[in-house]
Amino acid sequence: MKIAAIADIHGNYQALITAIHHIECWKPDRVLVLGDIINRGPRSLDCLHLIQEKVKTDDWMVIKGNHEGYVLNFTDPNFPLDGLEFEFRKIIYWTFQAFNENEIQSVAEMPEKLELVLQDNQLIRGLHASTAGDRVGIYPDSSGSDLENLVDTKADVFLIGHTHQPFIMKFRGTLVINAGSVGLSFDGDKRATYAQITLGKKGWAGEIIRIDYDLQAAVGDYEQSGFIPDGGPLAELVLAELKLGWPQLSHWFRQYESRVLGGDISLDHAVAEYLQNPSIEQIRTDIPMLYPL
Ligand SMILES: [Fe+2]
Repeated sequence: MKIAAIADIHGNYQALITAIHHIECWKPDRVLVLGDIINRGPRSLDCLHLIQEKVKTDDWMVIKGNHEGYVLNFTDPNFPLDGLEFEFRKIIYWTFQAFNENEIQSVAEMPEKLELVLQDNQLIRGLHASTAGDRVGIYPDSSGSDLENLVDTKADVFLIGHTHQPFIMKFRGTLVINAGSVGLSFDGDKRATYAQITLGKKGWAGEIIRIDYDLQAAVGDYEQSGFIPDGGPLAELVLAELKLGWPQLSHWFRQYESRVLGGDISLDHAVAEYLQNPSIEQIRTDIPMLYPL
């Protein structure tokens, strides 16, 4: 039994088609998609349509993540469409506006969790982030006491994404695999990422796979799609995330959100100032990416 898990595509169509090609060459029995297919990137609809096609033709299983939720928030007629709070969410609105009613409906209907029961009652469960919610991620350094509240230890294999930082660990007999991000890595390795999981005679094995893809074409999609400039100033931060392989939006919000809201600095200036010195961390080589049989 071979299972591929992919997560956090974020509208990066170039990375997605490369990952799919790699997965199909590996010939898994099932492919599981762990949410954040759309938003925080330029080609959400293309990615959604491709994944939906795979669900129909190849029985792929899909759940939604927090970014599907962010886009669905705009279906609420009372959601603000002006002011600074809207400017902060302009990327999401740009994504939302491209969707028709049926496409929004199909996103709303995605389940939030997935489960596969295999031979010998082997149980695979998948969530976008953790059992504590779709915005509470599991990191390579999450402590044992945190993991008690984050990991579904009833499962033999527990699959997650969300942090864009892949790893494999064993916790209380459960193989926990963060599949990383297909489209927007946050660990300094800019390649597309997914997880291969295999059931052998001795149990489950897992491996994080990294694949080169056409990053230049992905960068081109940011401008050709209109994501830049129509996504507003923060879209530049997402492009920096793509080019650098490290998170920028979260750092920007920590440094500038209150100053922008307080009128100390304009949004445009805050983004320009931040991008003079974006966040680049040390690449770690101590994170387990393999759990062999
Ligand atoms: Fe994500």
